[in-house]
Amino acid sequence: MPFDTTGSWTPVALSADLLPGAVMPAWTSAGPLALWRSQSGRTTASSDRCPHRGMRLSHGFVRGEALSCIYHGWSYSPAGGCVRIPAHPNLVPPETIRVTVQEVEESDGIIWVAVGQPETKPWRLGDLVPLRSLTVEAGIAAIEAAADAKTDSNGLISVADFPWVRLLATEQLGRTLIHVLIEQDRSPADRIAASRIAEALRRQAETRQKEVA
Ligand code: FES
Repeated sequence: MPFDTTGSWTPVALSADLLPGAVMPAWTSAGPLALWRSQSGRTTASSDRCPHRGMRLSHGFVRGEALSCIYHGWSYSPAGGCVRIPAHPNLVPPETIRVTVQEVEESDGIIWVAVGQPETKPWRLGDLVPLRSLTVEAGIAAIEAAADAKTDSNGLISVADFPWVRLLATEQLGRTLIHVLIEQDRSPADRIAASRIAEALRRQAETRQKEVA
């Protein structure tokens, strides 16, 4: 994964998997996130912990341009500030009540979240397009072994027998999130094949992981 002295970008999800008004869990090396898209389409990566009593905000819900906690309904803006406390409807929440938000970039169908303060934008996919995401219960080493390939400087694994299929991989605590990418001029049949290739690699990698555990 590209990394400069001040930070890096983590590809946390595909744009197509986060519809307006939705929230989902995500993570980077900096910790768990509530990744959400407002009704107008703005994407925000908030810390996945409500400052009130610690409920996971990824269990919450999006209403308009705010993310609300499922427990007592405190709502947070894309900038992180608390904008509403339902038990005190006439109170303007103090500015000190806020969640941490990470910088987000969305390009080529991928949602990237900053870890630290990268000086450059995420790299562009070029002639590749995202197909789907999978979570693999194995580390990147097991996936590389299954794919018979090494991860390049962009975090891409090129599948040895199918070089038109690439895996954009991020490992966290022994589990790896992979986004399957495919050359954009490939046929619908190739897209189906790429999805099956990725599933087969997942099975192989998880088997290898269990063997070395
Ligand atoms: S824990 Fe989130 S509003 Fe209470």
